[in-house]
Amino acid sequence: LRGSRIIGFGHHQPDRILTNDELSTMVDTNDEWITTRTGIKTRHIAGPDDSVTSMATEAARNALADAGVAPTDVDLVVVASTTHRDRSPYTAGRVAAALGMSNGPAPIDINTACSGFEYATALADQAIRTGSADTALVIGSETLSRIADWTDRSTCVLVGDGAGAVVLGVSDEPQISSVSWGSVPHLQDAVRVTHDPEIFQQEGRSIYRWAITEAEGHARAVVERAGLTLDDIGVFAFHQANLRIIEPLVTALGGEDKYVVRDVVESGNTSAASVPLGLSKAWHRGDLPEGVPALLFGFGGGFAHAGQVVVT
Ligand code: ACO
Repeated sequence: LRGSRIIGFGHHQPDRILTNDELSTMVDTNDEWITTRTGIKTRHIAGPDDSVTSMATEAARNALADAGVAPTDVDLVVVASTTHRDRSPYTAGRVAAALGMSNGPAPIDINTACSGFEYATALADQAIRTGSADTALVIGSETLSRIADWTDRSTCVLVGDGAGAVVLGVSDEPQISSVSWGSVPHLQDAVRVTHDPEIFQQEGRSIYRWAITEAEGHARAVVERAGLTLDDIGVFAFHQANLRIIEPLVTALGGEDKYVVRDVVESGNTSAASVPLGLSKAWHRGDLPEGVPALLFGFGGGFAHAGQVVVT
C-alpha cells in the first residue's frame, strides 16, 4: 500500500538569542512571570539578513543532507508560513530557486498559521500516496518577531523566529497517517494579524481555555484516525505555544512516560515552524526515539487545528 515516510529532518534559527532578562529591560516583565506562565526562557530573533525564505532554505538544505537527497530529486515543495512578506511570488518557489531545483518542483504555500506544518504534511503525504509526487520537502518558517508589538508585554514575550523542515519519500507501507483536521469558527479572530501596521494580536485567555478543554479530544481523534491507541504513541509533538498548555495536554493523554517535545522553552512560539523545529532539533541531538509513532498536533491562528501520526 503506497504511502509516505519522513526520510530527513532539518532546521535553522537566527543567531541572535533574546533572554527573558533582556526582555525585562524592554517591557515591564520579568523572568519569573514569563517562566511561570509560559515556560519560555529564550527565543531566537531574525537579523537583517534573515527572512522566511532564507531560514526555510537553510532548514530544507539540512533536511535534504540528512536524507541524502539531491535538490533536483524533489518534485514537491510545501511551505507553511504566516509571515512571508511577498504576496507573490510564493515562498515555496523562492526556496526551490534558492536550492537550485532546476527540475521545477510543484510549489505550494500554506497559510494556516500555527497548524500550518500539519496541513502541509497532510498535503505532501496525500500527493505521494496518490502518485502525484515521489519526494517532497515540507517546511515551516516564521519571522513572528517582525509582526510582534514590542511594547505589548502580553504578546512580545511569546514569539520567536526559525524554520524546520522534513523530507518525505515513498514508503511501501504508510508511515504518516491520514490527517485529522478542522477549525473553530467562534475563535476565528482570536489570533490575528492587523493591517497598517501589521501586528500580531491574540486573545490569550480564550485560546488558553480552548487548549485546556478542547485540544485533548482533537488529539485523541488524530490517534483514532491513525487506527492506533495512545499506548502506541512514543512521541508527543504539539504546537509549541506555551509549556503550560503542553504539560496538561500530555497529562490528560496519559503521556508522562513518553518523549515530549518542549522546544518552546528555548525557541518561544514560532507558529508554523514550531513542530518541525522541535522535532529536528531533537533528532539531530540524538534524543528523538527512532522508528516510533509520534503524535503531531497543531492549533492556532484562524482558528485551525490539525494532526497526524508519523513514524520518526
Ligand atoms: N509580564 C508581566 N506581567 C504580564 C505580562 C508579562 N509579560 N503579560 C501580561 N501580564 C499581566 C497582565 O497585565 C495581567 O495583569 P493584571 O491581572 O494586573 O491585569 C496579568 O499578567 C495576567 O494577564 P493575562 O493575559 O490574563 O495572563 P494569562 O495568565 O492569561 O497568560 C498567556 C497569558 C501566557 C498569553 C496565556 O493566555 C496563553 O498562553 N494563551 C494561549 C496562547 C496560545 O496558545 N496561542 C497559540 C495560538 S497563537 C500562535 O501560536 C501564534
